[in-house]
Amino acid sequence: MADVLFSIEGLTIDSVRGGVRRRIVDDISLSVERGELYGLVGESGSGKSISMMASVGLAASGLEVMAGSVAFSGRALPARNQRGLRGNLSRGVSLLFQNAKGALNPFKTVDRQVERALRRSGRQTDPRAEVEVLFRVVGLNYRDFRGKYPHQISGGQAQRVAMACALATEPALLIADEPTTALDVTTERELLRFLARLCEEREMAIVLIAHNLSLVSEYCRRLSIMHAGQVVESGNLKTIFADPLHPYTRGLIAAVPDVDQPRELVPLIGNVWGGPEGIERCRFSHRCQFATPVCEARHPPAIERAGRAVHCVLYEEVPA
Ligand SMILES: Nc1ncnc2c1ncn2[C@@H]1O[C@H](COP(=O)(O)OP(=O)(O)O)[C@@H](O)[C@H]1O
Ligand code: SF4
Ligand SMILES: [Mg+2]
Repeated sequence: MADVLFSIEGLTIDSVRGGVRRRIVDDISLSVERGELYGLVGESGSGKSISMMASVGLAASGLEVMAGSVAFSGRALPARNQRGLRGNLSRGVSLLFQNAKGALNPFKTVDRQVERALRRSGRQTDPRAEVEVLFRVVGLNYRDFRGKYPHQISGGQAQRVAMACALATEPALLIADEPTTALDVTTERELLRFLARLCEEREMAIVLIAHNLSLVSEYCRRLSIMHAGQVVESGNLKTIFADPLHPYTRGLIAAVPDVDQPRELVPLIGNVWGGPEGIERCRFSHRCQFATPVCEARHPPAIERAGRAVHCVLYEEVPA
């Protein structure tokens, strides 16, 4: 049986701005196994970041968690209990964001910042000695970086320093939110290969959030695909790539270049949040060539099909 470390069930989030309420995350579920690299993919603005932040108790102001629960290491809590989630997950979960260079303190040397993260972790360690170990883990030579300030190192090196800080607590789960977006392609690949190795060697699970499907496809075994605050399809990556079911997944895959079999790329038409607001619907309906009035009447539930879950009326059994 799968060894589930972290799961989200029915997470629903509204934004409330100027008295206007808008559902921006609509009943999403996913589960991550211990030690796996899991992909969460979708175009910009589809709700990946707010979903993951709310699932660890860090919903931003202006957002209201309406429903759902989050389980970590066997303990489940209602997602509305944001303070409880922070308490439950803060020891076992670390976060990594894009643009580490901007996130590091420009007035403190990078070794000091890793040392501080170790001291804050509350583990019984010798922080001075462990800083060196952590630098080695993230592939940096401590002697070359000791005493350097963030502006004196490259973007890729800063991302590795941020990773050393994130690893200081020995997390069971790392949520990496587009960690390579600000990097050049070579550094991006290097960092992702490194993350994949970390998963294997440390048995640490990673949720890799990305807007680029081809990136995730090289490193993750399973993934969820989000569109306008809804998960549209999730499951084994190879199965989904070989035979995408949801029209949005098909569109995303058709837009990925394939060097082995060059073909015409098909762009997805329309934007994520177009279409009618405030009704229960498949939120891909305004972009979907197969849409019928049924798709505007409700959000299709998850349908288990050939090793994955898909939310689309095309796969619903028609009652005899
Ligand atoms: N604090 C907030 N208050 C209200 N709306 C927000 C807030 N943060 C993000 N949003 C909205 O939620 C949607 C999803 O945002 P986000 O999770 O950042 O997308 P992604 O990470 O997939 O690019 C966007 O439409 C964004 O405008
Ligand atoms: S539910 Fe309807 S609109 Fe949504 S993807 Fe399926 S066919 Fe298209
Ligand atoms: Mg984001």
